[in-house]
Amino acid sequence: MEKFVIHKAQPLYGHVKISGAKNAALPILAACLLTSEVCILHNVPPLRDVEEMLALLEGFGVKTEFDKTKEMVQLQAGEIISCDAMQAHAQTMRASFLTAGPLLARMQKAKIPMPGGCQIGSRPIDLHLKGFAAMGANHKLEHGLVELNTKNGGLRGKTVYLDFPSVGATENIMMAATLAKGTTRIENAAAEPEICDLAEFLRKMGAQITGDGTDTIVIDGVAALHGAEHTVIPDRIEAGTFMAAAAITGGDIVLEDVKADHLKPVIAKLAESNVKTEILPEGLRVYRKGKLRPIQLKTMPFPGFPTDMQAQFMSIAAVAKGTSVITETVFENRFLHAGELQRMGADIKIDSRSAVIEGVEELTGSKVRATDLRAGAALILSALAAKGETEISDIYHIERGYYHIEEKLRALGAEISRQEDS
Ligand code: UD1
Repeated sequence: MEKFVIHKAQPLYGHVKISGAKNAALPILAACLLTSEVCILHNVPPLRDVEEMLALLEGFGVKTEFDKTKEMVQLQAGEIISCDAMQAHAQTMRASFLTAGPLLARMQKAKIPMPGGCQIGSRPIDLHLKGFAAMGANHKLEHGLVELNTKNGGLRGKTVYLDFPSVGATENIMMAATLAKGTTRIENAAAEPEICDLAEFLRKMGAQITGDGTDTIVIDGVAALHGAEHTVIPDRIEAGTFMAAAAITGGDIVLEDVKADHLKPVIAKLAESNVKTEILPEGLRVYRKGKLRPIQLKTMPFPGFPTDMQAQFMSIAAVAKGTSVITETVFENRFLHAGELQRMGADIKIDSRSAVIEGVEELTGSKVRATDLRAGAALILSALAAKGETEISDIYHIERGYYHIEEKLRALGAEISRQEDS
């Protein structure tokens, strides 16, 4: 087990290159199951979750080659030798369930463990299953395994209304629908940029998809898909986390390889907090000169404020003079970081789905634990602004989603090192 040791930072300065989006790469990797031809993906971040997904795909018979230096993956699902996910790999990561849609579409069956993942609420898969059921798939749950299969000649296109615009359910149903007979309409679909990136990749494979990025996605099933080459979009959550680092340290940094359009809700909340952004030819500049101001924010599906940035903004609120209110509407139980921030001196009161934060003058370095991926990112940010030294344990959570975070922060002037955790 390793930990991060972090000292209070000077304002961060410099350029940082943002990696490919984990949450776009994972469904796109799963989509490669839809064709027997070669797929080539660029800008794939060499993260633990990506390696888990590749291992899972290999278990199905997919040949994979990951050139981590070039951040490029070549995959070929020539022959699918098994539709039964190896429990060991699938359980560590919720995104493993994204293989269900492609397997159902191509093989008419799949057997995937109930997914694991971040400790942020119950995270059911009922919306995925309702979508598959509408398209003609049966499922049964036995010993923690979800077994799916279709009868009477495979999946059929249908209208699927999602009770909530779930990102994963939209992706799974969209992938399943590419090879279904007839037209599928996903209503109240998620509109996240990662959905559009997956749709773009599927179109390159020959899929007929329109409406991605809106609340209604229409997929006309085709007989077969072919190989394709694609570059994964930049990670808007990694970008947002570095923006928060500039904000909390009063720094001035330029993010390279970002799409400002994907960051609109984050940019808007930073502006409210007195943090400026500017689009330059070389990237997105983020800087703060005056004092941080308190914020009022509510997480929402895209284009609302992303739940995956909520913890990082709580770190900002913890040192912004005045009262901030943060409401989490996407996940229940996504305030685990609040307890750790309190250990660093933050004044936070949780009332159901809202957190009321009274900004303090300064946080104090402490021994804290990353309880999940984004909670871990929030602790890093708080540590950069805290007096003295902070030790963050369980950093494997952070490594699921941030590529070379300590090297990137160090290059901007942060004092962060990785040590053995005894
Ligand atoms: C994805 C992201 C995750 C992000 C989340 C919301 C990936 C790999 N992960 O997760 O980082 O935080 O979107 O932006 O892309 N729900 C149900 N039933 C379902 C599915 C979801 O009730 O069948 C609920 C969940 O419990 C949650 C909400 O819907 O409360 C949102 O979940 P969803 O959008 O599905 O998130 P994920 O796809 O798991």
